[in-house]
Amino acid sequence: MTKNHAGMARIPATPENIERAAAAIRAGDLVAFPTETVYGLGANAFDPQAVAKIFEAKRRPTFDPLIVHVLDLDGLAQVVAEIPPPARKLAQAFWPGPLTIVLERSERIPGIVTSGLPTVAVRIPAHAVARDLLACAGVPIAAPSANPFGFLSPTRAIHVERWIGDAAAIILDAGRTEHGVESTIVQIVPELAILRYGAIEAERIEDVLGPIARRIESSSHPVAPGQLPMHYAPRTPLRIVHGADVPWEERSGAAYVAFANDAHGYATTRVLSRSGDLREAAGRLFDVLHELDALGLARIDVEPVPEHGLGLAIMDRLRRASYAG
Ligand code: TXA
Ligand code: MG
Repeated sequence: MTKNHAGMARIPATPENIERAAAAIRAGDLVAFPTETVYGLGANAFDPQAVAKIFEAKRRPTFDPLIVHVLDLDGLAQVVAEIPPPARKLAQAFWPGPLTIVLERSERIPGIVTSGLPTVAVRIPAHAVARDLLACAGVPIAAPSANPFGFLSPTRAIHVERWIGDAAAIILDAGRTEHGVESTIVQIVPELAILRYGAIEAERIEDVLGPIARRIESSSHPVAPGQLPMHYAPRTPLRIVHGADVPWEERSGAAYVAFANDAHGYATTRVLSRSGDLREAAGRLFDVLHELDALGLARIDVEPVPEHGLGLAIMDRLRRASYAG
């Protein structure tokens, strides 16, 4: 791949380069791309390890659920469990466009995309480059805005290049984005609410749905699921402990989640990454916890992982999951 003088991969969004970007997405790499709102940092939404790279690139010590971008209603049907009437109305009124809706997720969406939530945020973008990329890639693309937390949203590819460095295999440059603010987020499930003000005015949403609740996230009043201390706690009590330190008689009724090394005597054991790869571990974490929670055992013991890189995000997530009140 040709990289420009700075060693980055910012290239014009020509049809040929969009094809290369789509191939990168299919190969499990990250691609930064323009939408009509802001630039996004995208990965194949069906590939948990590729999605883990997004969190690694953001260097955030926490996981936040991502927005999944799809080409059309057929693509939507692949990522959600059902499309209730209010969602159909919004889709008809505002898609393709800067509206994100939160619906029950399909089984095909890995837990890392939704931070373990049973819902998924989805949108059908209008930007021609985003649409060509989705069409060529043939998979849904999970993408947060391509900016570090607390920074201005990237409205130009150069903003992304300055911050992302080499994390993206390709940065598709299509000039300045149209709206410059993120999409409006409307939650349909579990209950109707506007979660984020964005490029579509709240009044226009209410023109379609009638008056609905507003649960807007802000730093003084966090409602984003990732910010609540125990939001993701499984029903099974979870603790962070080295299996080898657990008395033998406490193991038989419990499940063990090892980072790289098994412990003996547990009812069942899952290994997040035999090679000790934090990216692989992050990609598997939420799905493993869901699976073990469903077994109805007395406890889930989870081995701590090294606290660097994606290990910070994993440990943040585990501490929330083990938070007892
Ligand atoms: O305009 C946009 O929406 C841009 C472009 C790239 O599409 N994307 C974007 O993504 O702004 P991001 O990650 O910066 O914002 C995602 C927001 C977060 O506030 C997150 O809490 C919320 O979506 N979100 C994602 N999944 C959710 C879910 N299942 N339930 C509630 N909120 C969710
Ligand atoms: Mg953002």
